[in-house]
Amino acid sequence: MPHQASLRPGGRTFEVRDHETVLAAALRQGVHLPDGCRNGSCGVCRAHLASGRVRYPHGPPLGLTAFERNAGDVLLCRAVPATDLVLDAQEVAATADLVIKTLPCRVVRMQPLTHEVMALHLRLPPVETLQFLPGQYIDVLLPGGQRRSFSLANPPHDSAHLEIHVGLVPSGRFSDEVFSRMQPGALLEIQGPLGSFFLQENSARPLLMVAGGTGYAPYKAMLRHLFENQIKSPITLYWGARSKADLYEQSQAEQWAREQADFRFVPVLSEPQPGDQWTGRRGRVHEAVLGDYGELSRHDIYLAGPPPMVRGARQSLLLKGADPARIFSDAFDYAPEVRAALEKAAAAP
Ligand code: FES
Repeated sequence: MPHQASLRPGGRTFEVRDHETVLAAALRQGVHLPDGCRNGSCGVCRAHLASGRVRYPHGPPLGLTAFERNAGDVLLCRAVPATDLVLDAQEVAATADLVIKTLPCRVVRMQPLTHEVMALHLRLPPVETLQFLPGQYIDVLLPGGQRRSFSLANPPHDSAHLEIHVGLVPSGRFSDEVFSRMQPGALLEIQGPLGSFFLQENSARPLLMVAGGTGYAPYKAMLRHLFENQIKSPITLYWGARSKADLYEQSQAEQWAREQADFRFVPVLSEPQPGDQWTGRRGRVHEAVLGDYGELSRHDIYLAGPPPMVRGARQSLLLKGADPARIFSDAFDYAPEVRAALEKAAAAP
């Protein structure tokens, strides 16, 4: 039986079909709610349940602690209504006017950034444009209904080609294709723009950007947008990676730091190699942030990277006084079969 979901304080009401998640129902009916990974990992779609009951057909989501669940928080990308619902949740006004399109595109350039990261430059059909906000992502649609999400690394003012950074992951169907067989000229189908992780342009707060691995991609779009539009806010980018080779655009970020008076770049390596001759920061990227800041209540904080990094960073930054309403996160996640392979590899002796 379908249920009604009502949003407070906006008052929007929409129908949720049997077995449908609240987030999927909202998107289907043009109600724009915060969303990120869509698999219960990142916590971006968190809302407070003012009345009603939900269930999680796939089990309690990882992105919600037992404490948060007991306090009445729900993750809308996983929650299926068991009754009519009243939810404390804000619509995302900035993306309401953007049209989500499904489009063919051609791979016009393949640029190896490391032996494990490939930049794909995609060209849309000549009559088509894609309007998006810096930081948003697109999905690549695969045969059989699967999809893979990638942040756009190019800013909206430079969208003749779309740029995505594809990391090589074990057993990754799309990444295998990219690294083994794909050639320039390949055709893809994409859908976008998607996601509520984007630059909050009307904020005058200092910006703190924290990236893990290819989580750098959305910041590349945001930073180019900020510099192009001469938006003056103090900006600091922390980029964490394993070794120097994984900081695949370190020289670009350093060049921005030299040219832009308000921009600071802090690279952090967790496993520098002897050949790296690394004299910079070491350890986990969010620990470097914690070591540098006494308190963070005045900042807009952006987190982009693997879900454990985003979750860990969020929890620790909250302890430094960060305003939960001013933490924006983009946790990329892997397809279930890839996640299983990574977990197996991590558990191996
Ligand atoms: S947890 Fe719902 S979008 Fe990530």
